[in-house]
Amino acid sequence: MNVYSLFLALALDVVSGFEYGPQYSTNFITDLDHTREGKAHRNELFLGFQESSSMWFYTTLAPMLWDTVARWYGIGEKSAKSQQWIWDKFQEALKPLQQGIIGSSTNDNTIVSPVGNVLSTMYDEKIGKGPISQTQFREIASEIADHVIAGHETTGITLTYICWELSRPCNRHWQDKLFEECKTVPSDLQRLDQMPILHSIVQEACRLHSAIPGSEPRYVPQEGPKFEATLRDKHGTRVEIPPGTIVSCQPWSLHLLETPFGANPRQFNPARWLRDETTGETEQEYEKRLTKMNNSMFTFGQGNRMCLGMNLALMEMKYCIAQLYSRYTTDISPEWCNKVYQQQTDSLMGTSGRGRATSIKGTDVDMMRMADTYTTRPLMNECWLEFSSRD
Ligand code: HEM
Repeated sequence: MNVYSLFLALALDVVSGFEYGPQYSTNFITDLDHTREGKAHRNELFLGFQESSSMWFYTTLAPMLWDTVARWYGIGEKSAKSQQWIWDKFQEALKPLQQGIIGSSTNDNTIVSPVGNVLSTMYDEKIGKGPISQTQFREIASEIADHVIAGHETTGITLTYICWELSRPCNRHWQDKLFEECKTVPSDLQRLDQMPILHSIVQEACRLHSAIPGSEPRYVPQEGPKFEATLRDKHGTRVEIPPGTIVSCQPWSLHLLETPFGANPRQFNPARWLRDETTGETEQEYEKRLTKMNNSMFTFGQGNRMCLGMNLALMEMKYCIAQLYSRYTTDISPEWCNKVYQQQTDSLMGTSGRGRATSIKGTDVDMMRMADTYTTRPLMNECWLEFSSRD
């Protein structure tokens, strides 16, 4: 299976159901063939989203150049198709709400879903205040488009890296630990958060392979920082950042710091999230170390613009990984490329420029280098794993 296309499909199925309602969710997991025979990885919709997300720099920081650059790379048409798909899906799911055929989230829970969905919730909120204008409809559509785009590639990419790392010979023993812990996948989703091995694996993948490794820029407002700045230079003097300055921080750099993440930060090592029994680390020391690591995690951003879908993504990923590894083992497909047996010591990032990436043929570590864009992905857009049943 090409798990990269499989997990993009899963994530789009989940987020579309969450946003539009389960009856409008896509079913790309089964509708597309993710094996070698199928060409799911060449699916136009996914490619359109991928091309659009490679343009985030222009979308956010240089919108006046978007058209020119999109034409240059031939992105405009593909991206327009995925935008149209989102708009059509919105119209399709909106119609029954407008016609009152199905109830919205608050007045007919059984038909829509027990918790409602984003569209019906937003529709309810607006309709409660009077007739909805065209602009307001576009606002709802735009918000939902944001979630669908932000929610599927990121989740799909992270799941891909989790399974690839677990399938590498040097990490494969984590599959057995996971199996022991997940033998009975809890139906109570809250229990998923009480599974330390599962949690440590997801955390480690989020640290090392943040789906958004790129900078998260913020402006210092003209009226000055809205909070008491505590930034100090090495002499302890308070540093003032002038209004209008763009300040940015990137998960990629932050997550590779030895303080607080410990030795060999380029290696996938879920154990760094667990209490170190070999050194006799006390519970108190462990809690202290964990707090420092958690505070330095930037996978979902931090502050008031941080990821809106973090809890959905974490729950979805944990559930998926628990389901998979309680039933299967995975290995890197020998038909794909040569395996690297030892741990990672060099760069995890691939800077190849557009088009040049396709000329790289090497080991799984080469193929799985993270494309250095704002939202990353495996450099070769694929990850071929073999599944074997545990039965
Ligand atoms: C592993 C999965 C995910 C990762 C790594 C991720 C990461 C991020 C990051 C880094 C940001 C920017 C934060 C900032 O600017 O400080 C963000 C924003 C956002 N994410 Fe996610 N995300 C994921 C899943 C999701 C899902 C499933 C959804 C929707 C259901 C979602 C919706 C959003 C939205 C709407 C924003 C913009 C929030 C705002 O600007 O106020 N994300 N995400």
